[in-house]
Amino acid sequence: MTLQLATAESLAQELQSRIEARTARVLVVGLGYVGLPLAETFAAQGYPVLGFDIDADKVNRLNRGESYIGHICPERIEELVASGRFEATTDPARFREADAIIICVPTPLTEAREPDLSYIEGTGRTVRDFLRPGQLVVLESTTYPGTTEDLLRPILEESGLVCGRDFFLAYSPEREDPGNRDFATRNIPKVVGGFDAASRALAAALYEPVVEGVVPVSGTRVAEACKILENTYRAVNIALVNELKCVFDAMGIDVWEVIEAARTKPFGFQPFYPGPGLGGHCIPIDPFYLTWVARKYGVHTRFIELAGEVNTAMPHYVVERVAEALNEDGKPVKGSRVCVLGVAYKKDVDDPRESPAFAVLEMLRRRGARVSYNDPHIPALPAMRHHTIRLQSEALTPEFLAAQDCLVVVTDHSAYDFEEIARHAALIVDTRNATAGIAPGRCRIRKA
Ligand SMILES: NC(=O)c1ccc[n+]([C@@H]2O[C@H](COP(=O)([O-])OP(=O)(O)OC[C@H]3O[C@@H](n4cnc5c(N)ncnc54)[C@H](O)[C@@H]3O)[C@@H](O)[C@H]2O)c1
Repeated sequence: MTLQLATAESLAQELQSRIEARTARVLVVGLGYVGLPLAETFAAQGYPVLGFDIDADKVNRLNRGESYIGHICPERIEELVASGRFEATTDPARFREADAIIICVPTPLTEAREPDLSYIEGTGRTVRDFLRPGQLVVLESTTYPGTTEDLLRPILEESGLVCGRDFFLAYSPEREDPGNRDFATRNIPKVVGGFDAASRALAAALYEPVVEGVVPVSGTRVAEACKILENTYRAVNIALVNELKCVFDAMGIDVWEVIEAARTKPFGFQPFYPGPGLGGHCIPIDPFYLTWVARKYGVHTRFIELAGEVNTAMPHYVVERVAEALNEDGKPVKGSRVCVLGVAYKKDVDDPRESPAFAVLEMLRRRGARVSYNDPHIPALPAMRHHTIRLQSEALTPEFLAAQDCLVVVTDHSAYDFEEIARHAALIVDTRNATAGIAPGRCRIRKA
């Protein structure tokens, strides 16, 4: 026992010194919206970084110095590769070279809206196959409390190595907000929970030089729960303002004006904004990870379910407002030309995952509208899990705008000049308050 403790201690000390000297090799698994900026951040702070992805196309593009994420400019990737501190690979055998392995793979829902942990399990098996004593494994993917220790740890221990004795394990939730110009990986504090004190200390030491603020918590479950709290908080509050939007709209009150007034209260109020429904990889999905695990403990998550219900109903609400607005012009939905502006799930990003734009387009098409879309960041609609609609982005020429019976603002990208759009359009249904303050001219603007 004494010998084992001594071994764990010396392994930890060795890794700690490599981290302090910034010679510890960091392996980032999953080079997507989260993993790629993280890899860049570690390399920028002097760590040698290896990026692993199963998508050979992404790996080849990175090694050529190209970017495949809209808000990450190619110059940043060129610099990263030119620094000599970053290399991308599809070769799992290179896991052995890593001192710290950070897992940023997807955590979606299955068709039955249950956690799909297959990506974490798959990565866990690859880590297991090449695990060596002294490595630190950190899970960053968003998931329910218990995943790191109850799901990942047993897979890693199939290697014969024991967690806390031979290798170290931690969870640190990703808080990436793609497209946010004020906050990037570097200046977002990082919560860190370890399997044991040594794991937590090593994970904290690893992140401390690269992010502004590490927040150690008592264990991996608290860190996992923290991420779920953050995302559930957003989902529930967005549902609340979406519900208020419907109520106030029926009463002829502008919800955005109400929120602007309410946010002048200097305490006890944080503004959230209504919209066409939730999108992205996180907010519409993560709360249901908690719902699923809560059921195993006999607890029903009513707030989460209700928020999901309200938010999922929003695209339908938008389509009803479009139908009403067309009706005011004496036009049926059937046969009307309706163009959706913005199909990315949020402003200024090229990520369409779970975007409510797909539901809006499909519902309008089912009613017979001649639908089209424009998104300066998404030239063609990619194949989506639940949607079959395939279109190419239309150029917003004055002729095209004038030919539309209705334009529906789903995503208020900065690239849109709404004044110019309103100059040519007949009708705009605005789900984002993007047209606030513009002179509508002859264009009718309806909020939804
Ligand atoms: N996108 C966000 O804004 C955001 C924010 C916070 C947290 N998260 C969480 O971070 C995690 C990753 O999300 P993302 O948006 O970066 O996803 P993503 O789809 O952009 O990237 C995931 C990457 O992992 C790769 N991959 C899949 N299986 C793999 C495997 N077995 N081995 C190696 N690579 C594999 C994919 O090819 C892809 O490049 C998720 O759990 C998500 O919930 C995302």
